[in-house]
Amino acid sequence: MERFAASFREAADIVTLEELPPAVGEIAVRNSWCGVNGVFDTQIARNAVDYVKVDLPTFTGVEAMGVVEAVGDGVAGFAVGDHVVTTRFGGGYRERNVASAGRFVPVPGPEREWLALASTGVSALLALDHGEAKAGETVAISAAAGGLGHLLVQLAKLRGCQVIGIAGGAEKGAMVRELGADDVIDYHAVPIGEALAGRKIDVAIDTVSGAVFDAMLANMADHGRLVVAGAAADLEGKPEIVTGPRIAHSIYYRGVSVRGFMNGLLTAKWPAARAALFDLYRAGKLDIRFDQPGFAGLEGVYDAVERLLSRHSSGKVVVDLRP
Ligand SMILES: NC(=O)c1ccc[n+]([C@@H]2O[C@H](COP(=O)([O-])OP(=O)(O)OC[C@H]3O[C@@H](n4cnc5c(N)ncnc54)[C@H](OP(=O)(O)O)[C@@H]3O)[C@@H](O)[C@H]2O)c1
Repeated sequence: MERFAASFREAADIVTLEELPPAVGEIAVRNSWCGVNGVFDTQIARNAVDYVKVDLPTFTGVEAMGVVEAVGDGVAGFAVGDHVVTTRFGGGYRERNVASAGRFVPVPGPEREWLALASTGVSALLALDHGEAKAGETVAISAAAGGLGHLLVQLAKLRGCQVIGIAGGAEKGAMVRELGADDVIDYHAVPIGEALAGRKIDVAIDTVSGAVFDAMLANMADHGRLVVAGAAADLEGKPEIVTGPRIAHSIYYRGVSVRGFMNGLLTAKWPAARAALFDLYRAGKLDIRFDQPGFAGLEGVYDAVERLLSRHSSGKVVVDLRP
């Protein structure tokens, strides 16, 4: 990324750099797939992410997987040919990555499913933990057909929860139902405030904000937990200014809590979360969906970001970086 701009496409260029060998403590990885976070990328392009200080120029993209092609001195635990994933900012949108070995984790194979699990899967599992979702509770999930959402739906079902999946459009709704949601709300067809009225939500996990957040908060059960894990509606990174009763009023009498979730703050929990997800996947308990037909090459990252912003994608959006 060379400049701040309104869109990721205007902010980021594809550049060719010399391929350096790994220094002490580093490994070199040839990437095969990267995962795309269109909302975050756009906010970064606009320099609108409060918690990331961006010095230009910078590599962008967060998650990628590839094969180790060289190992620097002093590195233990990695060998040439290993399949690895990184989920650290700057490691995503590149064909080759040379960085500290600590920025990578081994994964069992070359399939893109491991990338989805180690990145978005970990976020989904830890967000659900953050909401302390328990068997028998009602869990409402926004953007339920998305990369994060479709895994949240399945993880909540595996925990024995009743799941309300909220998604825009009939096609996404059908997918969310297929993945096990008990109830699906198409908020393009019915206003979300109306669709959630009278429900008793124990755990809400929201990545959309705006009217979705308001409707969730208005319908929490006693002791409910509303997890704020994103705000796609606030793409500018500048929260919408609203006038209304303070949320103190909504949460106090019902003992509701509203809690922020930021996966990047929970690195200590990543290894256990990864292991749990890999076990579930190996046991055939997780159906990982990818947006179709998919994207290829670094040029494909621009299109993939725009696809996410179009709100037409479903499942995890990845780009094939294999030669
Ligand atoms: N807190 C964390 O640590 C963490 C970690 C990972 C991801 N996230 C957040 O989780 C969200 C989901 O990420 P993802 O990569 O899996 O994306 P995604 O859910 O696959 O795609 C975004 C979806 O959000 C919904 N949306 C609502 N308003 C939107 C808008 N104005 N622009 C774009 N999308 C909008 C759309 O679904 P509907 O039309 O169905 O509503 C869209 O398909 C993102 O907001 C991301 O920033 C947070």
